[in-house]
Formats: sequence, structure tokens, C-alpha cells
Amino acid sequence: MSTVILSAAGAALVLDVSAQGLPRVRHFGAELGSAQDQDLLPVLAAPAPPLLPAQGDTWYGRPGLSGVREGEHWPVRWTLERLDTDATQGAGGTVTVTAADERAGLRLVSELVMDAGGLVSLRHTLTNTAASPYRLGGLVCALPVPGRAGELLDFTGRWALEKVPQRRAFGQGVWSRENRRGRTGHDGTGLLVAGTQGFGFGSGEVWAVHAGWSGNHVHYAERMAEGAALLGAGELLDPGEVVLGEGESYTTPWAYFSWSGAGLDDMSARLHAHLRARPLPARPVTLNNWEATYFDHGLDRLLELAERAAAAGIERFVLDDGWFRHRRHDRAGLGDWYVDEGVWPGGLHPLADRVRKLGMQFGLWFEPEMVNPDSDLAREHPDWLLARPERMPPPHRNQQVLDLARPEVYAYLLERLDTLVGEYALDYIKWDHNRDLAEPVHDGAPGVHAQTLATYRLLDELRRRHPGLEIESCSSGGARIDYGILARTDRVWTSDSNDALDRQAIQRWTGLLVPPERMGAHVGAPRDHITGRSLPLAFRAATALFGHMGVEWDLTSASEAELEELAGWIALHKRLRPLLHAGRVVRADHPDPSALLHGVVLPDRAVFAYVQLTSRVTVGGEPLRLPGLDPQAVYEVRVAGPEPDGARLPDWTGGPVRLSGSVLGELGLPAPSLRPASALLVELLRV
Ligand code: GLA
Repeated sequence: MSTVILSAAGAALVLDVSAQGLPRVRHFGAELGSAQDQDLLPVLAAPAPPLLPAQGDTWYGRPGLSGVREGEHWPVRWTLERLDTDATQGAGGTVTVTAADERAGLRLVSELVMDAGGLVSLRHTLTNTAASPYRLGGLVCALPVPGRAGELLDFTGRWALEKVPQRRAFGQGVWSRENRRGRTGHDGTGLLVAGTQGFGFGSGEVWAVHAGWSGNHVHYAERMAEGAALLGAGELLDPGEVVLGEGESYTTPWAYFSWSGAGLDDMSARLHAHLRARPLPARPVTLNNWEATYFDHGLDRLLELAERAAAAGIERFVLDDGWFRHRRHDRAGLGDWYVDEGVWPGGLHPLADRVRKLGMQFGLWFEPEMVNPDSDLAREHPDWLLARPERMPPPHRNQQVLDLARPEVYAYLLERLDTLVGEYALDYIKWDHNRDLAEPVHDGAPGVHAQTLATYRLLDELRRRHPGLEIESCSSGGARIDYGILARTDRVWTSDSNDALDRQAIQRWTGLLVPPERMGAHVGAPRDHITGRSLPLAFRAATALFGHMGVEWDLTSASEAELEELAGWIALHKRLRPLLHAGRVVRADHPDPSALLHGVVLPDRAVFAYVQLTSRVTVGGEPLRLPGLDPQAVYEVRVAGPEPDGARLPDWTGGPVRLSGSVLGELGLPAPSLRPASALLVELLRV
């Protein structure tokens, strides 16, 4: 055997195992038909990067592994010991490679998985087989991309404006997105994409990598003078953070690689399919009280909010920050996870019971990793911080970080969470994390690695004890969105911004990684609390409709007309939910920069939103060419939801029209004229 081929859903990865060392990755891209081992032999002579780039395999770029054994450094040169695979043509499979370097005292196990959707996952495990300690510098996962991938796309952002795209040429050298915030980060790229010139949502060949890790991490693209290029991702370790004693191992986070021959949507669909392999129950429409009442937890006010929420069709009520001891503002109380007896003399029961009577689920906010110095916990246990005991790290939002890898801290948090989830039969936890980790120290060493694993363990244990419990990953909005946290949580809080105009972009780009049903999207107040922008309810609702819909607005201040309109949107969301939360997400490469066109498609139906962001420069709009439909099929097309205010609508909106998928995709529907900040929803049923 000289090659191993993994293939599924149109993608293929070819490993060349003809040499002594690690397998070389010959190809990651389109499937190769029925190509067999012997068909590939004539092309195996070309150079290709090994599964873990190293100089011993003539890779002079960034090494996949760095580390040192003091006083006896041996550059690592791997010898392949065994390769196991269950690869089945067209159905993906797993390849497990075991290699060793006796002199360097190291063993490597690499696991490469292609799932049924063609997504590739890769991780490495390094074991120290020698007696002396091995100080690991880093171990990353990388796969090659061909020379024609000439452009890069990645993302940055800040609080309340996450996932802002940036594009550049993929030249020689390294483009490295590094994150040392101890959490995934508002500016964390999430995805690093390389593609052919001008790639879009529906065109071009693209390769993307994602690090499934919530601590410090790197995504990078490298092109060598020799011409070879690769995409890599992994954890960023501080010096001394991981020191392997004899027999000890380090396992990298999973890195996910998605290829598409047809643009970003297809790349994204493979990622969505991976998450959707763990199905969720129908996503209940949620009310979160944060922007409605903030720290004002007067029972009467909350009960009225709950009544109004239920009347509008809301299915889950989440009590945000402010319910626990000393938490009247954000300067005190974090860590004291006991219901505040002053504010809640009867515990949370009067609220929780009423919420349940109204037919809603009940959820609660926590920020387990954090502590206010002004808290009983910090006063009792000043040594529980993720810090040197002699020196406090700089505060942020008046808070410090607990050292979860300390068994006492872990045990305290598990007991508190477990008890409260049990006592109130919580359906849902909003798990927040509102600061970057500064100068984190655990047990005298850099602490982010241990902290991240301890958080994962805590989440896993809580879920094991409460299998029905759902958990949202929030981190000042979208600063902890990655497949490490998503393996153990059910949705993310996409952004603290509920401004629907900003949300259109944030959800569009976050949505490359996260499918709609796992992306929290709330209808905010008429005047946004962060941007101060006033937007119509119809636009706020049409934006939230395309995620896991919720409301974060003081409904006690809403008019009857607003409540009725909101109820209509919630009913529409519920009707469309089986489509919105299971279909394939498509985004048109719409040529008019003043508008967006996106949708969700199932084989028998689809829904699209044509979104006017700003005023249109041209008189007539570009036709709405709807991507993702079956060109052979005929669809009945109609407007869904209320007509946007002030719109001038073309004839087809007047009643159902029947058109083929090819006409809808190639010619498109004549564009409506919409005011800025409005959207027209279009529903399609296959006839
Ligand atoms: C963070 C979250 C918000 C809210 C507040 C509460 O900022 O992102 O949604 O929960 O904390 O303090």
C-alpha cells in the first residue's frame, strides 16, 4: 500500500505512505473518482508536506512540533510504526498513524477523520517516552493547500461587533492569527479560509481551518519559497505551560478542515453537518431579561415580564445576571452562587413556578469561572485565584478569575451548579465569561491550558448529572464560540449587540461556523442599548428569525400593537422553525452592496430574506437570484410575514407564482424597493 484515500461528499484526502517517515498529504480537495492506489503512483514523486511538518522531512517552515529536552536536544525525525484505517470509499473513515523517534524519546499518534459530510478533523497526541522531562513548545495540526489558493479570508472584531471579515493576498510567509486572551476572543478568527481568486459564497475553491479550542490558540497560513502552502491551527502554549514527564502525553485540540469546490456556503455546510450530527430538541423561543431589567430583580416586574412573554408565544424565560448574593451591580457578588435572600426571600421559586405555569422553561445565568474581589468567596478563599498569590492581575469589569484546575475550586463550583440546577430543575444555563485572562498562573506555571480543560470537565460533569440541561456559551457576547465549547454546549450568545443592522453582518459571518439553531438572536428594544440606533420591529424580528430566536426587550414597556406584532413574528418563526433549524444555509453573492440576500433551503421548501441595509444607489435593484434550489424543481413562491413599511413591491409579491429552480437561480425575482433597515421574506414550496 502506498496511499490511503479518504473520501466523502465530494471531498478527498490522499495520504502518501510510501516512505519511512510520517505520511505525506498529497491532496486535500475534490474527490478523485474511482482512483486507486496504483493510479496515483506516477504522481507521488512531487514534494508534499508531511502530516506534521518538520525539517527531517525537509519542511523549513513553521514546525508542527516544537519543544526541548534540556541538554540533549534531538531534532525529531519520525519513523512510522503503524497505520490503521477503516477508510471506505465515499463514506469517509479514520486513519490513525503511530510514529516514534527513539532517540528523541517521543511517540506521536495522529488521528485523521473524514466524516460522512467530507469534513476532516485532525489531532495529534505526543507522549514523552524518555525519563527526563520534555518541555513542549507547541504542537499544531496543518494540511496543505495548493498554489491556486491565492487569497485569504479571516475575521476580527471587538465587543458587540464580532466576526468582521478581512481579506488579503496569500503571499509567501506566514499570516498568523494568534490569541492570548485565555478565551476564544471577540477578535478570534474562528475560521481561516484560503481560496482561489475572488471566491465568494457560491463560487471558487476554498479550504478552511478551525481550531476547536477555547483557550489560547493560533490559526495560520504559510506559503514557502518552494511553493508549498498550508493552513494550520492549534493551541498556543506559554513556555513551561506543558512539561511532559515520562509516560505523559499532550493531545492537541481537534482542528477542523473543510474544503469546497463551490465557495464558502458549501465549506460552511460541512461544518454545520458536523455539529448537527448531535441533534437538538426544537429550539424554544427565549426571553432573556438582561436588556429588559438589568439588575432590577423586583419580583412583580419580572412576573409581569413573564406574563407578557408567555402571551407573545415565548417558550423559555431566562433570568440573567443579578439573582445571587450581593449582586446589585457588577462590582460585587460573582462567586457567591446562592440565591440572594434579600432580593429573593422565597428563593427563585415564586418566579420559576409562575414561569412554568405559564408553560415556559426556566433558565439562569452563571459566570462560573469569575469572582469579584468584593464577594464572600474571594474573602474566604483569596488563594483560589488563577494568579500568583502575591499579586492580583489587572482587573476587568471589577472581576478576577478562579483557578478551576484547583480541585477545591472545581468541587465548589460543581456543587453550586449541581445544587441549583437540581433545586430549580433548570432547563437552561447561560454560562458567561466576561474577561480576558491576564497573567494566569496555576500551580506556579502558565495556567490557560489547565483552566480550559477544567472548564470542559466541569461542563461535561454537569451535563452528565443533568442530561436534559441545555447550556449557552456566552462570553461578553461572542467571545467563546468554537467547536471545543460547542461540543459541550447547545448554543452561543452571538453578540451583546442586538442592533439588527450590525446583527445582519455578525450572524452572516458567525453563521459560517455555527448553524442557525445554535446561534442566539434576540429582538432588542426599539432603540438599541449599545448603538443607540432605532430600528423598526419588523426589521429586528426578521433578523432574529434566522437564528435561535429570542427577545431581550422590556415587554412591560411595549404597546399592545407592538406585542401583537411581536407575537406574529414569533408565530412565523415557530412555523418556519423546522426549516430554519435543519436546512442548508445559503448566502447569495448579491452584486448590490446596499442589500443582502440569504436563506435556508430544504429539498421541499426554502425561505429567503432580502435585506435592505442602506439606501440603494441604483433605481432598480439587482434581481434576487436565489441560490441552493433544485434547478429541475418547480416552486410556489410567496411573501412570508408582513409587507415591510414603505416598500414598493413588484407584481410577483401579489400572489403565489410558480417558477423553476433554474429560473429562480439564474434570472432571479425582480427586486422590491425597500427602505433601509427593512427586509422582505420569501417562502418557497416545491410543487
Ligand atoms: C455579559 C453578557 C450579557 C449579560 C451580562 C450580564 O456582558 O454578554 O449578555 O449576560 O454579561 O452581566
